[in-house]
Amino acid sequence: MPTQPLRFVRRGEIVTLPAVEPSRTLLDVLREDLHNCGTKEGCGEGDCGACTVVIAEPDAKGDGKGLKYSAINSCIRLAHSINGMALWTIEDLKAADGSLHPAQQAMVDCHGSQCGFCTPGFVMSLFGQYQSKTCKGQAISRADAQAALSGNLCRCTGYRPILDAAEAMQALPLQRVNEAEVLSNIERISKQGRGLEANFSYMPPQNLPQLLTDRARHPDAQLVAGCTDVGLWVTKMHMQFAKVLDVTQVAELRRVEQYPHHIAIGAAVSLTDAFAALVADRPQLAEFAHRFAGLPVRNSGTLGGNVANGSPIGDSMPLLIALGAHVVLMRQSGKKQAHRSLPLEDLYTGYRKNVMAPDEVLAWIKVPKTTEGEFSRVYKISKRFEDDISAVCLAINLHISDGVVRSASIGAGGVAATPVRARKTEAALVGQPWTEATIQQAMQTLRDEFSPISDMRATAGYRSTVLGNLLQRFWLESQGCVQTDLRSLEVAA
Ligand code: FES
Ligand code: FES
Repeated sequence: MPTQPLRFVRRGEIVTLPAVEPSRTLLDVLREDLHNCGTKEGCGEGDCGACTVVIAEPDAKGDGKGLKYSAINSCIRLAHSINGMALWTIEDLKAADGSLHPAQQAMVDCHGSQCGFCTPGFVMSLFGQYQSKTCKGQAISRADAQAALSGNLCRCTGYRPILDAAEAMQALPLQRVNEAEVLSNIERISKQGRGLEANFSYMPPQNLPQLLTDRARHPDAQLVAGCTDVGLWVTKMHMQFAKVLDVTQVAELRRVEQYPHHIAIGAAVSLTDAFAALVADRPQLAEFAHRFAGLPVRNSGTLGGNVANGSPIGDSMPLLIALGAHVVLMRQSGKKQAHRSLPLEDLYTGYRKNVMAPDEVLAWIKVPKTTEGEFSRVYKISKRFEDDISAVCLAINLHISDGVVRSASIGAGGVAATPVRARKTEAALVGQPWTEATIQQAMQTLRDEFSPISDMRATAGYRSTVLGNLLQRFWLESQGCVQTDLRSLEVAA
């Protein structure tokens, strides 16, 4: 299949690159084709933020006259995935008269840079926050700044001056993007490209029928939905894809739909937006949402991609299993669309293996809403608080009434070849009085239920021990302990 051009809006103009291979990353295109080397490569896997750039598309939640800005990692983003969007890199912030953007000026004023290698990435994360908040009249708090910079690492300056810069940039003279001009150029690109999506090696179908048709015709194409893991196959394993099928432009799958008893999250909804919907229903998930990777990864990655990828250390699946989520798989069957729905835990058959047929796609994730008597928590154990992968993740959802456990649903990650449901532990809890004696017995059942491996994140023994500890923490929190100091608890060997 032919390789198509890539078009995006930058510096008030439409940039057209005649032929970009489907596996090329945005970072490589910026540095190697456009010779814009301000954007750096540190880790090449979404961990350090040195490669951060900002993209924007028309804001579907607004009146259509504004832009939605997202800071993303260009190292693991396929270049074609930004086709038809607007892009800013560190080279684009300085004004024509040479004056610095407030995000840059504040970094200078607050001494936010030493060697400077991380600085373009930090400035772009600040720029994304500036566009999303300052330009919309919203204040940036210290907590907002920490969230916005959660995907950026600095090895020499230290974070205090950079956080100071995030707050200080708000006090500088406002500098706005000409959004009307950007939107007009985005519309021009859209008109040029309409109808061409299926003819090239990078297929970004715009609607569900087209996606299902493309999947049926090209079951060998690499499916991507945000690419925050598949991007590593390119940068770390040097894989090349002859054909890519990108679900992130499918209009139907970009929606979060509210129903009386559940939330339906389309497979192309970003992790940022998906967790916003989940946290709105269950505010206790806010910290966990913040700890899922860093903001640039959450802005690119999708809930559908995380689930379909099926990594045993993916963070969303333990939570979704505990909440009783179902996945909806779809395919084209003759002239009709066929679909089936199954509990999330039944999707997986082995390490990164699942029940999906070659012509099937994961279309929706349906998450039951919170109900009377529910007590649910999710815990992530990782070496770093933010932007890290779990050693163990445990999500617990109980219904307790009259002091008795009426139902239990427990999802675990990092303890088996797939995300798993702790059915034996659930059985040890259901029908039992909600007492310390019950929890002590269930803790041992949970420790015995899985046989985790030892790897660089944790030993098998640590994983088993911490599983039980987290269940004990859940018990204590259910009794009103809001700050649990696990060091003071006795841990069974
Ligand atoms: Fe480290 Fe991209 S180079 S996140
Ligand atoms: Fe050196 Fe941040 S200034 S890594």
